[in-house]
Amino acid sequence: MPESPRETQSAPVTMPFDRSTYFDPPPRLAEYRRESPIRRLAFTDGHLGWLVTGYDTARAVLADPRFSNRDAFLHPIVPPEFTNPLQTGGFPPSFFLFTDPPDHTRYRKPLTGHFTVRRMRLLQERVAQIVEERLAEMERLGPPLDLVAEFALPIPSLVICELLGVPYTDRAAFQRDSRLLTDFTTTAEEAAAALGSLGGYLYELILRKRATPTDDLLGELASAEGFTVEEIIGMSMLLLIAGYETTANLLGLGTLALLDNPGQLALLRDDPSVADGAVEELLRHLSVVTVGSTRSATEDVEIGGHTIAAGETVVVSLAAANRDPLRFDSPDDLDLTRQAPGHLAFGHGIHQCLGQQLARIELKIAFPALIRRFPGLRLADPGAPIPVRTYATVHGVERLPVTW
Ligand code: HEM
Repeated sequence: MPESPRETQSAPVTMPFDRSTYFDPPPRLAEYRRESPIRRLAFTDGHLGWLVTGYDTARAVLADPRFSNRDAFLHPIVPPEFTNPLQTGGFPPSFFLFTDPPDHTRYRKPLTGHFTVRRMRLLQERVAQIVEERLAEMERLGPPLDLVAEFALPIPSLVICELLGVPYTDRAAFQRDSRLLTDFTTTAEEAAAALGSLGGYLYELILRKRATPTDDLLGELASAEGFTVEEIIGMSMLLLIAGYETTANLLGLGTLALLDNPGQLALLRDDPSVADGAVEELLRHLSVVTVGSTRSATEDVEIGGHTIAAGETVVVSLAAANRDPLRFDSPDDLDLTRQAPGHLAFGHGIHQCLGQQLARIELKIAFPALIRRFPGLRLADPGAPIPVRTYATVHGVERLPVTW
């Protein structure tokens, strides 16, 4: 029997991943949002949950304490052969992104003082120095080079390493592990190995810091009362992974977006007053944490005329919400002069990004410095496709070969 339009509209969909451009979310998300800001989503393990694509609905779900973020409720949205723990759980219990109050409050509260606007301003000079050093190194190496390897990845990695007190010389191992842990295509064996190796690395480091205290965030945590070594491992694992993967991908993809929009690039290069708004717009437009926020109802919740039953899981597409035309005029345009506060690139509610002020400082310094130092910056091979991360929690380019 043919389905009626109403039935077709409310039929469960699967999570779309295919993009038609480097910058826009999968086009099917916009179609779904046009039909309804919230609709049924079929998870790949058979669970029937919900997909949120509208801005207001996204904020409503993320701010509602009746939704849990515990990974015990997670259901996968990618094909079953991919078993990344961000999809199915497995992180240590103190990896506090996946906790609810009161545990969440206990783990997050002692860290908030380290990430305030004031504390981050004190870091500004050091970040600028790190950016200058990377630019000088790019100059030394000469074109063409991979902007991801020489600029986008090292800057946030160096900054978070210094802040946490993780030796940057150890980056090869933790970058490999955290990459596996944020990629949806990781197998169960790879994920277990990466969790074991990153956990073991942090364990050794924390024990060393307990024996010989250091003046950095992990040093402080290691000697703080009230947390076991296992708890500190989970907390520092989250800080380390979240602290550079996201910013690195925004620096890489953001540079590609600027090269693709020469008028906008010129605006940012020539007018320093544009930088603050430009960074917010790049965050909104690119929404590199695309399908991050997954929540599960702990009781029946009415949202947007639908009842989310207790136990049902909701995927909030931050990327789709940030392109909602009911919230942002011409949402698909990259407009660095747009005055549009309130984007959801850092999430919303109690799990809203702890490191957002740090990310802002890095991005506000790095983008203008790059395009001023290399006014002739361009793609090394404009016709060649750029490899992107399709099945990953953080969207971005794998490599960005540039010249100048
Ligand atoms: C462009 C850069 C960044 C973006 C787009 C970003 C995005 C996000 C988003 C969307 C969430 C919320 C996820 C959810 O609700 O499920 C989040 C959480 C978090 N982010 Fe970021 N982030 C960035 C940079 C950073 C940096 C530099 C740090 C530094 C440590 C950081 C640390 C964290 C932590 C610890 C959480 C978990 C907060 C909690 O659960 O209470 N992030 N981030």
